[in-house]
Amino acid sequence: MPPTGGWRAGASPPTVASVSRYYVEGEARAERVGDLFAAVAPRYDLINDLQSFGLHRLWKRRLLRLAEVRPGTQALDVCCGTGDVAFALARAGAITTGFDFSAPMLAVARKRAGGWREAAKAPEFLQGDALALPFPDASFDVVTISYGLRNLANLDRGLRELLRVLRPGGRLLILDFGKPDWAPWRWLYLQYLRWGVPVFGRLFCGDADTHGYILESLQHYPAQRGVDTRLRALGCSETRIIQLLGGVMSINVAQRHPGSRPPSQVG
Ligand SMILES: C[S@@+](CC[C@H](N)C(=O)[O-])C[C@H]1O[C@@H](n2cnc3c(N)ncnc32)[C@H](O)[C@@H]1O
Repeated sequence: MPPTGGWRAGASPPTVASVSRYYVEGEARAERVGDLFAAVAPRYDLINDLQSFGLHRLWKRRLLRLAEVRPGTQALDVCCGTGDVAFALARAGAITTGFDFSAPMLAVARKRAGGWREAAKAPEFLQGDALALPFPDASFDVVTISYGLRNLANLDRGLRELLRVLRPGGRLLILDFGKPDWAPWRWLYLQYLRWGVPVFGRLFCGDADTHGYILESLQHYPAQRGVDTRLRALGCSETRIIQLLGGVMSINVAQRHPGSRPPSQVG
């Protein structure tokens, strides 16, 4: 059994040999993540469909329903990548900004936007760092981040930024890989992430490390329960965890407390 087999939900990450050169701690993290998404961008959507058996589409639909978008809602999708969630928000009537630091991922999103034929306004895609969002406090009614938070070099700083740009009473939705509570299911899932998923990297990007990164980044990520604890510590109200497929994926839902000061000013 690989050394990650004993990893418990919510536990500190075990010490394991690196399974992807795209994961590093500290200063160089963002640069490596940028390299990773530059490498996968042309095949990102195809691999997403294959590795999730198409289920990521259902999970993103669930995220959209939780966003409770109405025509005119101001929405920000951070780490938007090729734009799935941004397009869904816009289709539902939100005035949507997609935001990402990867030019190759944004190029795919903008190409998709070029084919936009809906009555609703297409999303606008902007490039920049999620850890320093170029928006004033309280600019958005809804902020989403799907498969992005796990990639940030500083999780707490990222959460503060997401909450800063959300208006008091607004809704934050975080979709990402999770850590299932039930040990046998967790074990099976870890085997898939360790041995199955990197095959897609090898086949479509010529590099197993691009997808070995998912397991490694997840080991260092507090996942649904840890994220919920942090959101409450940052003063969010009505936090909830939606477990998907037994906790393999999850959506953290939180409301920026009505009347709260921006999190950057707290503590
Ligand atoms: C796994 S993709 C998710 C794409 C999309 N949200 C989806 O659900 O399919 C992660 C995205 O996060 C972006 N990203 C990672 N760190 C970032 C940062 N610090 N600032 C902005 N974007 C970042 C990457 O460029 C990549 O496009």
